[in-house]
Amino acid sequence: MKISAAVHRDFTIARIDDRLYSAFIEHMGRAIYSGIYEPGHPQADERGFRRDVLQMVKDLNIPAIRYPGGNFVSAYRWEDGIGPKENRPTRLDLAWRSKETNQVGINEFGGWAKDAGMDMMLAVNLGSRSLDEARDFAEYVNYPSGTYWSDLRRSHGVENPYDVKMWCLGNEMDGPWQVGHKEAKEYGRLADETAKALHGLTPDAEFIVCGSSNDQMPTYPDWERQVLEECYENVHYISLHKYFGNSSKNTLNYFGKIDETGRYIQAIAGVIDFVKAKKRASNDVYICFDEWNVWYHIRDQDTQRWKNWDWPEAPDLLEEDYNFEDALFIAGLLNEFIRRSDRVKIACIAQLVNVIAPIRAEKGGPAWRQTIYWPYQFASLYGRGDALRIAVDGPTYDCSVAHDVNYLDIAGVHDARSGTVTLFIVNRHLEEAAELNVSLHGFAGARLEFHKVMEGHDLAATNGPERQDFVAPVDGVGLGVEDGSLKGSLAPLSYHVVRLAV
Ligand code: AHR
Repeated sequence: MKISAAVHRDFTIARIDDRLYSAFIEHMGRAIYSGIYEPGHPQADERGFRRDVLQMVKDLNIPAIRYPGGNFVSAYRWEDGIGPKENRPTRLDLAWRSKETNQVGINEFGGWAKDAGMDMMLAVNLGSRSLDEARDFAEYVNYPSGTYWSDLRRSHGVENPYDVKMWCLGNEMDGPWQVGHKEAKEYGRLADETAKALHGLTPDAEFIVCGSSNDQMPTYPDWERQVLEECYENVHYISLHKYFGNSSKNTLNYFGKIDETGRYIQAIAGVIDFVKAKKRASNDVYICFDEWNVWYHIRDQDTQRWKNWDWPEAPDLLEEDYNFEDALFIAGLLNEFIRRSDRVKIACIAQLVNVIAPIRAEKGGPAWRQTIYWPYQFASLYGRGDALRIAVDGPTYDCSVAHDVNYLDIAGVHDARSGTVTLFIVNRHLEEAAELNVSLHGFAGARLEFHKVMEGHDLAATNGPERQDFVAPVDGVGLGVEDGSLKGSLAPLSYHVVRLAV
């Protein structure tokens, strides 16, 4: 199939917020315990954190990490995780029917996040708890000294405050499964008051209010409207969550869910605009897509397991094995985030290690990168700058979730600082190669700096402890710049990262 596309230096969508490539990690399953933290592991450092896992995290250049939950946060007492470890209580984690030993708390995690070069995006418990605990937590974390909570932090060996700028006001409060689930207005009021109180403590902080848990919730999108009507002027972002899967075993339909996600983003942007207009507000609220990933391979099976198990400690939970098809899907989803970067400013892959994660780590054993690690890494490393508005002319298909889906999924970023344009391209056609011609306007003298490709795998191919880099990028061939255009052939079902010096 023939595809022509055009980019122009001056036709941009938005300046991409670096935090579009953030991540999420929860006290859940083996994400923290025997994921990032495993004292006694041959790779553990003096504080018990795994060096092998930390290196894989660092290589992703993640700007920010959302912590500690997730559903977990809605019944969490943050005070259980501070002070001498031997005095910390073991508690029942109501969200995942597990035991939480509290051996990792805010100070251990804060040190680890700093080592990994990530800012923290902290969630407060607005499920079983309320404004008072949130402000105590913020004071412990952010206030320099001379008060009860700040001096307590200093007595715990952390002299300087963490200066956390991003605060999530609860998690999925629309979900009946959530501990302390609330009605929209009730939650909106609490979020508003909490934001106001925390703003007093940390004037330059930004607040993320809970949107719907997903676009299938019966209260969506009225939840967003009602919540924002209560708190619009005092918050900065509204959250979106969405998990994906190819349960119907229809690859093109699976890829079509990316277009469906574009509609989801558009709908929330419309609600934001509606509330802004209704309130005659002058501030803008953006989207924080703070949970996204593929989650379906073992979802049903695990749901049955954890609902019936007897409160184990750090059980294996949601340890999805990602395949090549998932990597192509994630590449396209990240492209959609770039294309919607005018409204989506923060996004967090959910999660980071072991639990629905790009990195896996065996207890006492090796760590490895899953197939989806690669598109996430490429987007994070090279997707920073101005998102380019790309016109594409090529064949499309219809499926049950979307119409007119382009076989060729493309996003582009111009980074004036490094003098580069990076194109992220997925050929989603099941059989046909794409004969590509991208005309590069305003980028005279463009030359190919590198071309990485993932292709030629069975869609079901996975990585694992024994074959760690089976599905991994290699150098691409056959693409080049000629007469001001990028030209070449892209194999069916292939993913390409093309970096041009401009
Ligand atoms: O990421 C797993 C869970 O998915 C989170 O705890 C929750 O917020 C969402 O439902």
